[in-house]
Amino acid sequence: MTPLSTVYSYHQRTKHHFDRSARSLGYMDWANQPNPFRNYLGANETQLELDREPPPLAYDRIYEPNAAPPATVDLGSVADLFRYSLALTAWKQAGASRWALRVNPSSGNLHPTEAYVLLESTACEEGSPTLYHYVSETHCLQRRASFSQEIWNSLMRDMPAGSFLVGLSSVIWREAWKYGERAFRYCQHDMGHAVAALRLSAALCGWQLKLVSTWSTDHVAALLGLDRQEEFLVEEWEEPELLAVVMPNPAGVKVAGKLPPPLDETIEEIREVQWYGQPNRLSREHVAWPVIDEVAAATRFPQEVLLDTASRELVYHRQSSGSSRDVDARKIIHQRRSCLALDGRSTVSRDVFLQIVARTLPGPHPPWDALYWPTTIHLALFVHRVDGVAPGLYLLVRNPGKKDLLKQAMRETFAWQTPSGVPSGFPLYLLIESDCRNAARALSCHQDIAADGFFSLGMIAEFAEPIRQHGAWFYRNLFWEAGIIGQVLYLEAEAAGVRSTGIGCYFDDPVHEVLGLVDNQFQSLYHFTVGVPLEDHRLQTQPPYFDAE
Ligand SMILES: Cc1cc2nc3c(=O)[nH]c(=O)nc-3n(C[C@H](O)[C@H](O)[C@H](O)COP(=O)(O)O)c2cc1C
Repeated sequence: MTPLSTVYSYHQRTKHHFDRSARSLGYMDWANQPNPFRNYLGANETQLELDREPPPLAYDRIYEPNAAPPATVDLGSVADLFRYSLALTAWKQAGASRWALRVNPSSGNLHPTEAYVLLESTACEEGSPTLYHYVSETHCLQRRASFSQEIWNSLMRDMPAGSFLVGLSSVIWREAWKYGERAFRYCQHDMGHAVAALRLSAALCGWQLKLVSTWSTDHVAALLGLDRQEEFLVEEWEEPELLAVVMPNPAGVKVAGKLPPPLDETIEEIREVQWYGQPNRLSREHVAWPVIDEVAAATRFPQEVLLDTASRELVYHRQSSGSSRDVDARKIIHQRRSCLALDGRSTVSRDVFLQIVARTLPGPHPPWDALYWPTTIHLALFVHRVDGVAPGLYLLVRNPGKKDLLKQAMRETFAWQTPSGVPSGFPLYLLIESDCRNAARALSCHQDIAADGFFSLGMIAEFAEPIRQHGAWFYRNLFWEAGIIGQVLYLEAEAAGVRSTGIGCYFDDPVHEVLGLVDNQFQSLYHFTVGVPLEDHRLQTQPPYFDAE
């Protein structure tokens, strides 16, 4: 099998069908539930401050380029970066069960994403560039390795002063424990949510954050110490996902995303340094899912690929509104929550609906400015309860250049009308007027939340062609983009005083059938819903950290 055929076949076999779900264990093996927190036992720990009060910034402004003055890079501002991206935000309790929730959401709250940061110098490791693992459970950094100044200079050559690196990985076993073969998809969605959370948190610090397109997956593995196979339990390996460069210096924006590939000898030196800490064991027993190992291997970013970021056809849209709502971005980020049920009756105004949807349009501003590939995802919206907008199926074309392609691929009978009251040039089209609550519920694995809100949606990705064009590795990027859109929808819903939920469980091909999509030119990759939540008052809420809030 080639990497491409592995990806197409993995995607096909992990579809949910009305009469058959993707393969999983089929029951919950509670005795082996993975620990959601990775710890490097024996590594030095640095507690990050919990009682910091960074200056407020109006929520809407996080989507503007350079909205905040750049903070100095030190342990305090790095604490802020993580506190508003990947930290805990609450503990919940129901009876004897207690579980943590975080800034970033996660399929099944299983949290496969792990984060690392490479800093040049900090108060705890002065003068010695150090790689740390971030532990959300305690909001602390664990030292994994310290590098020489020569290694640092080599890695960061051509980068503006003050820059540093953040790396992310997935412990795929955490998702596979519950979801079996489909778990690889969910890890990639979660990655996208984490990227958006980090990008927006960096914006609060006044920093740029760009995903790096020049390092292979093997390079990332070496830098993060994830290729040290003898240290990790093979079933609990951390799949290296991506590297991001954070640039506090606005003058550095010109070289954005152009972190040079590492030199082979630098990678060799990194492998030779002293590494600290032993990864904790997450489960007693494991179940193997060989197709996940295969798709992970097939989608690793190869050494020889250097994506030409200059040629990306990014399409820029105006920002949705000129004015900023008077609410602190950090408050919205920390209160983000998934709704468990929606009320099935409230409506939303057309303006608020358009504002939420417009926020997902890409532009040269956070979070989209973190990406190095062209927009590939469009939104098929099931509108249920929006005042002034007829219930029905709509399409938001996030790259207007792809409208004709979508039109050709979808049902011939679709109207493609601009709905009344929608500003001219806004790429939203009515496909068919209809009450689609039952269809939306059925397509999202019969989940009521898909029918009981203002609207729900399927993220329709350009699929076969971009994967063929860029390479099998691009399969991951499609899900990352979907997760980034999801994170924006979560925050927009909170800012509008309502709530949303990501929906990873949906019936793939029935969604395609509704849209008239017959092959894998387009595929639905993620669903979402937005509406007025019903609270579950049986759940108790406790603060995220012992001495915070
Ligand atoms: C990729 C992804 C898929 C999800 N799929 C579903 C779903 O199908 N149904 C659902 O009710 N919640 C779904 N969720 C919501 C998670 O259950 C939720 O994020 C998690 O329980 C943590 O809660 P929080 O979002 O409030 O932090 C999904 C979340 C993500 C990120």
